[in-house]
Order: sequence, then structure tokens, then C-alpha cells
Amino acid sequence: MDDEVFNRPADVLVVDDNLPNRELMRMHLTSAGYEVRDAPDGPTALALIQERPPDLVLLDIMMPGMSGYEVCHRLRELPHGRLLPVLMVTSLSGTDDKAAAADAGADDFISKPVLALELLVRVRSLLRIKRLTDQLDGAETCVVALAKALEARDPYTEGHSQRVSLIAAKLSESVGMSAPDQEALTLAGLLHDVGKIGINDSTLWRPGPLDERQWRLMRQHPIIGVEICKPLHSLQRQLLAIRHHHERWDGRGYPDGLSGEDIPLGARVIAVADTWDALTSDRPYRARLPCDRALEVLRRGSGTQWDARMVECFLAGYPHIIREAVTLSEMTRPVPVQAAG
Ligand SMILES: [Fe+2]
Repeated sequence: MDDEVFNRPADVLVVDDNLPNRELMRMHLTSAGYEVRDAPDGPTALALIQERPPDLVLLDIMMPGMSGYEVCHRLRELPHGRLLPVLMVTSLSGTDDKAAAADAGADDFISKPVLALELLVRVRSLLRIKRLTDQLDGAETCVVALAKALEARDPYTEGHSQRVSLIAAKLSESVGMSAPDQEALTLAGLLHDVGKIGINDSTLWRPGPLDERQWRLMRQHPIIGVEICKPLHSLQRQLLAIRHHHERWDGRGYPDGLSGEDIPLGARVIAVADTWDALTSDRPYRARLPCDRALEVLRRGSGTQWDARMVECFLAGYPHIIREAVTLSEMTRPVPVQAAG
């Protein structure tokens, strides 16, 4: 079953504290050709999902210890859990319970006693959605590859987005963003400059100051980036950070001249991470700044170019915030250029 959907039997995880229930589900699902794993409680289920994400989770609500609602909440925070279809199986049938299941992030629910036909219809329809989201994730991977390919054309920028992503992940954690927002921002860091694909080479790789016409073009890259990512359902949460990563706290940035807290929080985080990496990277026309001078630049621009809270968190978390990016840069950065003079 479902070879035409996944080119392999779909893998369903059944979570229920009641053994006869698990066995009944297993029987229905295996007879329809699915591969089945099962877990008697929430912690075991979460461990199995982390070990190998299934294609679908059938989740009982009323379980001792960790309820199905809590399992669902927690799995949505796992790296592969955000888009994992969850079908809640419950003996509860009140409207409030259904609303609570939806709040917890369940995609659908089915009432006990479970009828084989109804179960299989629901499972099949959620697996079709899973196939579509897998395809969208594939498209997301292509856009990330595009961003990396763009940077790889220039040894001076190679690895920049990956480092921005690592720094933004740490900084977003220290400013108190939620785990899903941190995850979204990690991807936004990778994609923030993907719009540079739309900038001509003579502007993009110019080894000196840009003229007015080139600047106008360069200022389009956040907008082009949004145009590239906008059609992809799985990249909707990254759009604001991509569009606004060059706004300034004092309103003198681009493309929209937003100021202060009108600038989306994720964009304010990326702006600091992006600047840090640019300052501490070699360019054809200048050597990287030593870290103490780069910190000084951030301090001086705090409250004018960047959100003072972001800078404060960066300084408080330094050097922990940049540690992974430094490790990466040691593997990817070119041999330093000689400073002029
Ligand atoms: Fe940029």
C-alpha cells in the first residue's frame, strides 16, 4: 500500500497505553500494507520519532503520565516534527476536546471504537498530504542549494549564509524566541541573501564601492529573495526576515525604511548576525576586522543601526554565540589577504 505515494510502505507510529488497542490498530494497518511501529507512552513515542521520523502518528489522547495533547505539542518542536501528520484517536467526542486536539497541533481525529474502514480512509488522506509536504520540503532544499551555489562562486562569501544562520540561531535563543521561531530563523539565515541571484555579476562582485545605479539594484536583493521563496508553502515563516534584514533601527535602512519595533524581530536578529560575519570576514578590498574592533562597531551602532537589545544579547553571549560559526569558518574561509600598508 502507498508505494505510489512514497515508493515504499508508509511508516505509521501507533501511540496508545492500551495493548489491545495497539494490536488492533497494528492489525488494521499492516493488513492494508503499512509498516507499523508502536509506543505505549509519550516519552517512548518521542524517542522513536527522534530516532526515525515516521510518515504518520496515530496518537491516543488519554494516557497516564504524558497526555496525547502534550506529546503532540512536544513533537511539533522536534526538528522533523513540524510537518508530521498527527491523527488523534480518542474516546472523547466533545467539541472542547476536538478544539484542544486542534490547539495541540493535531491534523485530524477519530473516535473510538475505531472502525477499520474509517481509520484507513483518514490515514490515507493524511499520507497524501504528507507526500505533498515532502515535495515542498524538497523545493525548500533546492532554494537553500541555490543560495549556497551563489556564494560558492566567490571564495570571499563562501559559507557566509551558513555562518549567519548559526549565529542567528544562537542569538535568537538568547533573545528568548520560541523553539519553532529559532528553527524558522535558522533557515532564514541560510536564505537571507538568496535574492542576490537576481543581481548582475558586475555589481555583485564589484571589488569596491558601488555607484548610485548599482546601489539601487543591490537594494533590490531582499525583495527578489522574497519573490523566490514566496511560492513555497514551507518558506512562509522566513519571508519577513528575508525582506527586512537590511532595515535599520533608525529607519534609514532598506527596502521599506521600517524603524524600531516595526522591523520584524527575526530580521533584527539576522541584521546583527549578518553584520558580524561581514565585518570579521576578508573581502577582496579589505582584511577582516579583529573581533574586538568588530564588537566596537556593533556597540557604536547600537540603537541607531541595530536594535540595542540585540546588540546587548550578542555582547552578553559572546563568544558562545559565534563559536559554531567560527568552527565552520576555519573550514571554509580563504587564506587572509594582507591588510593595506
Ligand atoms: Fe543582504
